[in-house]
Amino acid sequence: MKLPAHVTLVEVGPRDGLQNESRPIPAATKIELVARLQRAGLREIEATSYVSPKWVPQMADAAEVMAGIARPPGVRHSVLTPNLKGLEAALAGRPDEIVVFGAATEAFSRRNINCGIKESIERFRPVVEAALAQGIKVRCAVSCALGCPYQGEVSADEVERVVRLMKGIGVQHCGIADTIGVGTPRRAQAALERALKHFPLDEVSGHFHDTYGQALANIYASLELGVHVFDTSVAGLGGCPYARGATGNVATEDVVFMLDGLGVATGVDLDALVDAGAWISGELGRPPVSRVGRALLARRATA
Ligand code: HMG
Ligand code: MG
Repeated sequence: MKLPAHVTLVEVGPRDGLQNESRPIPAATKIELVARLQRAGLREIEATSYVSPKWVPQMADAAEVMAGIARPPGVRHSVLTPNLKGLEAALAGRPDEIVVFGAATEAFSRRNINCGIKESIERFRPVVEAALAQGIKVRCAVSCALGCPYQGEVSADEVERVVRLMKGIGVQHCGIADTIGVGTPRRAQAALERALKHFPLDEVSGHFHDTYGQALANIYASLELGVHVFDTSVAGLGGCPYARGATGNVATEDVVFMLDGLGVATGVDLDALVDAGAWISGELGRPPVSRVGRALLARRATA
């Protein structure tokens, strides 16, 4: 089986990773995290989200974070914008890409963004139009594509319904998200195949939370389809405030280690990434969740 020669990692630690932290994290810490990720070679960074501070207080400093990060050439920064209010606020920060986030199930859509699927698409429509008019790329996330904390099982048909709606409003890239990390490799492939019916291979990505330890297997299964863009979170940070018990995204360190072993290029310097993961974990007062991060730190300590 020929795997892709190169994989693009979208580092979502500063957003998906930190959004669920209950203790306030200073904007300066978030800005420093982005700088360390840039230095480790990440070229796509999801920096923050412009959502209601009542819903997700941790992201209330989105404007400060975007104003404070360096914007080196060749590094793209994306932000979440659930509605026009979010997009209007986001524009000042000159994002390279915005993300609208919908769900494959009505129940999760209501809990996460306070409206049903159809209404969410109508909210996204002007957001997508305005972003494209400004030359900003538009990505979507389809949450709960492999399982829902409220509904349970989710069918590939339900996933495809939302994928088609997103395509219909002009979204350019489709992320298939396993919000609660219950997906297994064949299920992941089945959902991605539905996205691939509507979006080109370069514009489909996987976003796998690692709650049940399946994320690396799901990424490998995605590679078998040729999918070569994945969201990952340094140190395995994260969780979704509206998916209780769900842990973070697959750790960037774990994915880089696997891809290095497969001879698949990422452009990421694993040592610098492990440093970034250890640093932010220290700031949060706990060890990195990443198995590779912990193993390499232990090896360094005994060297
Ligand atoms: P709503 O309450 O229905 O919105 O929330 P509204 O339009 O009725 O406004 C209510 C209040 O929110 C108003 O303020 C608005 O100004 C304010 P008030 O007058 O009461 O003071 N407001 C905003 N403030 C700042 N920025 C905004 C904004 N919009 C309204 N953009 C809304 C609807 C979508 C805003 C809300 O439900 C929300 O913010 N949800 C955020 C949910 C979220 O961030 N979830 C986590 C990210 S998604 C995720 O993690 C999944 C992903 O990783 C993929 C995966 O794993 O599945 C992407
Ligand atoms: Mg997520």
